[in-house]
Amino acid sequence: MKIAVIGANGQLGSELCEQYDEKHQIVGLTHADIEITNINSVKKVLNEINPDVVINTAAYHNLPDCEKNPDISFQVNAIGALNLAKTATEIGSVLVQYSTDYVFDGEKKEPYLEKDKTNPLNIYAMTKLNGEILIKNYCTRSFVIRTSGLYGKTICRAKGNNFITTMQKAAKIKDVVKVVNDEILTPTSVFEIAKNTGQLIETEGFGLYHMTCEGHCSWFEFAGVIFKELRLKTPLISCTSDEFPSEIKRPSYSVLENHKLKSVNLNHMTHWKDALIKYLRINT
Ligand SMILES: NC(=O)c1ccc[n+]([C@@H]2O[C@H](COP(=O)([O-])OP(=O)(O)OC[C@H]3O[C@@H](n4cnc5c(N)ncnc54)[C@H](OP(=O)(O)O)[C@@H]3O)[C@@H](O)[C@H]2O)c1
Repeated sequence: MKIAVIGANGQLGSELCEQYDEKHQIVGLTHADIEITNINSVKKVLNEINPDVVINTAAYHNLPDCEKNPDISFQVNAIGALNLAKTATEIGSVLVQYSTDYVFDGEKKEPYLEKDKTNPLNIYAMTKLNGEILIKNYCTRSFVIRTSGLYGKTICRAKGNNFITTMQKAAKIKDVVKVVNDEILTPTSVFEIAKNTGQLIETEGFGLYHMTCEGHCSWFEFAGVIFKELRLKTPLISCTSDEFPSEIKRPSYSVLENHKLKSVNLNHMTHWKDALIKYLRINT
């Protein structure tokens, strides 16, 4: 297949390009190559490539920036998605879009299914949900994949870090590292996402999917594995989110169940702890 990967130098995009390179014809597109908020740019670039599949990893997803600039957030996460949906439909390509666990408010306290009611708490999540809805309505041959807590060899460009590099830095410069134990998520390796997305796009089972590693943990437990594996000696202690007051609302529980992948026998996601240990042993 000919696959155009948008955000090719990002955390997830770079992994997709690397993993699919042998099997597929990959055209990696960076922000310098395409501007997804501009319909003319999207049409011109994608018409020239004429891909079988367009995978969009581009997003405006630094949360404080999203709160400060809701208009930019909406332009990239919603209008960008709409531009891709319209263009993919016009040229007959399948579209893959990534979305977020933050579309939920966290009140359920049990893993969320694809059919569960969304209730985004912040601008980032609202605009990503808008992107999901626009894609669903403007591109029937599309996959929308919600994921969570990503990490990979290339750090997240929008945030300038991932949780692993943040912990490494904190362990270097702090006497004690405090991490919250009352926010629950599923850390997910981009290696696992690329692997499972690759299997999904071989099918015609279009629609909305949850795709995270298996199991869940608190950020403190996530940090615990990183500290142990990397033998970081700085004391790591747990605290509650009250100690890190923030004006940005986030769900305190955002675990996703890969329900739809399981229902079509396509859930090959590894447990978060196994994926993390494997990643740390190979890449650090
Ligand atoms: N990171 C997480 O923990 C997480 C969790 C849940 C869901 N997600 C979702 O997963 C996806 C991938 O995240 P990631 O961490 O790989 O992101 P990332 O590292 O920030 O990469 C995003 C890429 O998109 C490019 N881009 C940004 N705006 C663009 C635009 N307007 N037009 C064209 N390209 C643009 C960026 O280029 P420049 O940097 O040069 O602008 C960058 O290459 C996103 O949809 C995100 O919402 C991420």
